[in-house]
Amino acid sequence: MVDARALVVGASSDIGRAVAVMLASLGMPVTLWGRDRDRLRQTAELCPDATVDVVDVTDAADLQRAATELSASGPLGVVVYVAGLFDWALADQADPAVWKRLFDVNLTAAATLTTHVIGPLLAAAPSSLIYIGSGAAHQAFPYNAAYVASKHGLAGLAEAVFLDVRDRDVKVSLISPGLVAAGGGLTSPAGQQRPQELLAAEDVAEAVRFVVTFPARGCPTQIRLQPQRNPV
Ligand SMILES: NC(=O)c1ccc[n+]([C@@H]2O[C@H](COP(=O)([O-])OP(=O)(O)OC[C@H]3O[C@@H](n4cnc5c(N)ncnc54)[C@H](OP(=O)(O)O)[C@@H]3O)[C@@H](O)[C@H]2O)c1
Repeated sequence: MVDARALVVGASSDIGRAVAVMLASLGMPVTLWGRDRDRLRQTAELCPDATVDVVDVTDAADLQRAATELSASGPLGVVVYVAGLFDWALADQADPAVWKRLFDVNLTAAATLTTHVIGPLLAAAPSSLIYIGSGAAHQAFPYNAAYVASKHGLAGLAEAVFLDVRDRDVKVSLISPGLVAAGGGLTSPAGQQRPQELLAAEDVAEAVRFVVTFPARGCPTQIRLQPQRNPV
């Protein structure tokens, strides 16, 4: 698997960057997707063998183009889907366009990407397909209906895809962190007041490492991470 490539979708985020750096440390060439070219380049500078592709995962044609180029670039051993949007609104005050965008990124694009990469992952098996979930994949929170629903959907996607490919040696895993001192987590009250007590992006990367390096006879199908100290 060391010769196989890893794809990180959302490699422009702090969590995606930590995941890419960790996968590169395992000796894997990494392909980095996202929309922010500068931040993707900053991630690439930390990885010895990195390819950057500016991809909007909600653009079906762009996704197809990028996936085709990816499969032409050699065996695909790992895919990590980090891309995600957050929203904070009471259901009766939510903007339907914001909810649609959130579902497009958090769930529809994750599912569409799955259809593109599952063939290459099967061809390169043993291999790993990992989705970054959230505490909201397992529990409801107020002001968060679309996010909660999208992450519950992602949990269902991961669980069902695992059943489809488990006998063909593709691990499928959902890694669900609580508050991380990165991205949206830094805008929370705890993230503003006590970021050092939240999870770090590198902690999420460690969970990805656990899945990827776990013996091929087993699959950590769900990992839930929480800050040791209650952030609320
Ligand atoms: N931070 C937390 O506390 C926390 C906790 C649990 C789970 N998570 C999950 O971790 C992931 C990263 O979250 P974050 O808080 O670190 O947020 P973030 O910094 O805002 O990162 C979001 C990522 O999603 C990518 N993305 C968004 N829309 C995209 C699109 N249309 N096409 C391609 N890429 C797109 C962004 O890339 P571009 O900007 O380059 O488009 C960026 O890399 C999310 O799935 C989130 O649900 C975060």
